Parts: sequence; C-alpha cells; structure tokens
Amino acid sequence: MRVVIQDNYDKMCEWAANYIADKINNHKEERPFVLGLPTGSSPIGVYQRLVKMNKEGKVSFRNVVTFNMDEYLGIPHEHDQSYWYFMHDNFFDHLVDMKPENINILNGMTDDAIKECADYEAKIASYGGIDLFMGGIGVDGHLAFNEPFTSLSSRTGLRDLTTDTRIVNSRFFGNDPEKVPAQALSVGIGTVTDSKEVLVLISGHNKARALAATVEGSVSQKWTCSALQMHNGAIIACDEAACGELTVDTYKYFLDIERKERL
Ligand code: GLP
Repeated sequence: MRVVIQDNYDKMCEWAANYIADKINNHKEERPFVLGLPTGSSPIGVYQRLVKMNKEGKVSFRNVVTFNMDEYLGIPHEHDQSYWYFMHDNFFDHLVDMKPENINILNGMTDDAIKECADYEAKIASYGGIDLFMGGIGVDGHLAFNEPFTSLSSRTGLRDLTTDTRIVNSRFFGNDPEKVPAQALSVGIGTVTDSKEVLVLISGHNKARALAATVEGSVSQKWTCSALQMHNGAIIACDEAACGELTVDTYKYFLDIERKERL
C-alpha cells in the first residue's frame, strides 16, 4: 500500500486529480478506461480539478466509462441528495466530452435490487473490470456503503445503513437522521478490490481513526477499509489532519518514501 501525505485538502485533491488524469492520458488501449467513482465531500476538489483540466484540453473523457460506488435506495434521480444528482451536478454536467451512455450509477428506484446489482457486476465484467477505483471512506471506515462487518469479499448488493452513518449523512437531509434512507445499493468490498488500482481519499481530523485502521490496523471486517491492505495497487491520498492517529514511525516512513510526491 502507498500512502501519499499532503499538507492539506487542496493539495491532496490536486495530487489525486493529476494522478487520475495521467492514468487516463496514458491509457493507450482501444477499450475504454474504466473509472470507479465516489460521492461525498472528499472527492469534490478532485472533480473540480478534473473538470478544469478537461475544459483546458488536458484530459479527455471521450474514452472513459464510469461506475459509481453506491446510491441510496428509494430516492429518485432528480432528488438533490441522490448520488445520481450529486455526480451530474458536481462532475458529469461540466465535462465537455463525457458520453452519457458511458455513465453507470446504480438505480436506487429499482423494484428488483438483486437483479440491478447482478447486472451492475456483469456490466463491470463486460468491460474487463475497473482500471482505477477512486473512493472515500466514512468515519467508521466504510468503503462505498460497506459498513462495519460487511464481508471483505462482498459483491454489489443491498446494504443497511448504520445509525451512525445516517447521523453523519443527516447534514444533507436537514439534520434529521430519519430522513436519510435506511438502505442503499453499493458495490462490494470484493468489487472494489478486484479493480486494478484503488485510490482512496482521506482528509480531516474526523477520519484519523479510520486512516490508522486502514494503514496500520489488522485486516478486519470491523474496518472494511482495511481490506485495501490485501490489494496490490492501493493508494491512500491523505492530508496532515487525517494522520493524527498514525504512529510517528508510520507517518515518517511514508513522508520519506513518498517525498517526491509532496506538492
Ligand atoms: C458516504 C458514501 C461513501 C463516502 C462517505 C464519506 O457514506 N456512501 O462512499 O465515502 O460518505 O463521505 P465524505 O467524503 O463526505 O466524508
């Protein structure tokens, strides 16, 4: 696992956006570059930078297919808290050459969640898998909506959200946890770790425990993000604030070994 530590959120996003743009630009195969994407506040700065680069002609999305991580169950596309809405509002609508038919987001209004999720897995497989999955994590270490104790080999499926997650996410639902959907569709931990590369953004003091669990903890279903330790191409991009629970040795090790990446 690589851990790239930057001074602050902005630099973390700049580094991650450059990393993704380079991967897309260096993809010389005819088949599309397959990019997994998250929602949440963590990736917003990355999306803004990728949009800017796209408008300046520095990266093209013409040959990129995307798969989003998750979607709330039971809220329609046009709801301003659906992840479909978030992705279009923060990213897709601003790209000059993203093909709408290349955007894949789980349908939270499906009346057959099992089929919806099986079809999603099959569609990912039909492209030969995901090249790079960008992710964020929750304060409890959830990756996508894989809450603590979700199997580390789980596939795309229906998930119950914990009370903690509904409380954290209630900031987008008028601060009322009851208004946050109780279930979501989500790619599994196995779906994410099947990707060739996984790039997870972790910033802020409130994620410090989760970052330590991801990097230093035991591989455990209690912290589903810890599955990344078993992945051969996992990168954590983080800021200083999120490093508060790492041991000094770990912190110094990654600062040293990744010093060329420091912006
Ligand atoms: C939600 C999403 C996750 C996301 C997490 C963290 O629960 N389902 O995919 O990573 O929030 O969000 P934030 O980046 O806003 O802290």
